[in-house]
Amino acid sequence: MSKTSKEKTAQGQELGRPLSGKRILVGGKGGSGKSSIVALMADALHEKGYEVIALDGDASNPGGLARMMFGVKRSPKPLIEFFGGRIRVECPVDNPAPLTRKDDALPITERNIDLDEIPSEYFFQKEGIVLFQVGKIKEACEGCDGPMSKVTRDFIVKGGQVTLIDIEAGLEHFGRGVEKNVDVVLTDVDPTFESFSIAEKVVKLCKAMGIEKVWALLNKVQSKEMESIMIKELKKRNVKTIGLVHHDPKIAKAGLEGTALDKCEALEEVKQIVERLERAVQS
Ligand SMILES: Nc1ncnc2c1ncn2[C@@H]1O[C@H](COP(=O)(O)OP(=O)(O)O)[C@@H](O)[C@H]1O
Ligand SMILES: [Mg+2]
Repeated sequence: MSKTSKEKTAQGQELGRPLSGKRILVGGKGGSGKSSIVALMADALHEKGYEVIALDGDASNPGGLARMMFGVKRSPKPLIEFFGGRIRVECPVDNPAPLTRKDDALPITERNIDLDEIPSEYFFQKEGIVLFQVGKIKEACEGCDGPMSKVTRDFIVKGGQVTLIDIEAGLEHFGRGVEKNVDVVLTDVDPTFESFSIAEKVVKLCKAMGIEKVWALLNKVQSKEMESIMIKELKKRNVKTIGLVHHDPKIAKAGLEGTALDKCEALEEVKQIVERLERAVQS
């Protein structure tokens, strides 16, 4: 990692940017658009001058984020290998002890990761944005993805970068306490009834962990009518909404063709969501 990026980060912190150093987790229903939102947020945050880390914590859906952000079909080397692999890293349910370096008993939560200590095969990088991938389930009977959840939970980087965490669908990660070390949780809500109840559960699980900064982010909205139904259903369930992204044919086309998410209208909407988040984390 270049020194310049760290100097910029340090400046970012001095300037007191509201999202500097924050870990933002994006959860929600499968296919609702979590990875797409993370990829767009990375660009939106970068355009606003933040340094960004995107952490692909989805062990089941190989390469989604790498494709969206870098237009490639491969992923960086799994981060879990940096920490000694599945032999060393245990599922947080079996062993809640914090993640440690291979050669150091001090938890990462106490001595955060310096990006300079991570070899370059573990990340993809474009200007101001770095992508890591915790690990993937590759073989039959390999076991659950709990060890990857621990890496997702505890991979805390020193400095002012905003960390965006993309997790796999549903609530399993929350059951393992992956949200323990996050500052903000966004639950991605597409126009489906299932998304509403997942959002409600996410808010409840986060509250139980003491996380109050939880919002729904509406995605794939196709009409005003759809928007007001979604807002009404979420209100009924005590879920606050931070903003919305319309259905964007460019995102759908990139998904169909397996290409990167380039400039699209949704990016402008995500920039507005980032601005709202900046205000919301300060209140
Ligand atoms: N705002 C949007 N407009 C149109 N298509 C979208 C939008 N957001 C996501 N998609 C599409 O929905 C599908 C699932 O998106 P993805 O980000 O992979 O979801 P998840 O990570 O929640 O499984 C992809 O084909 C993607 O292109
Ligand atoms: Mg995904």
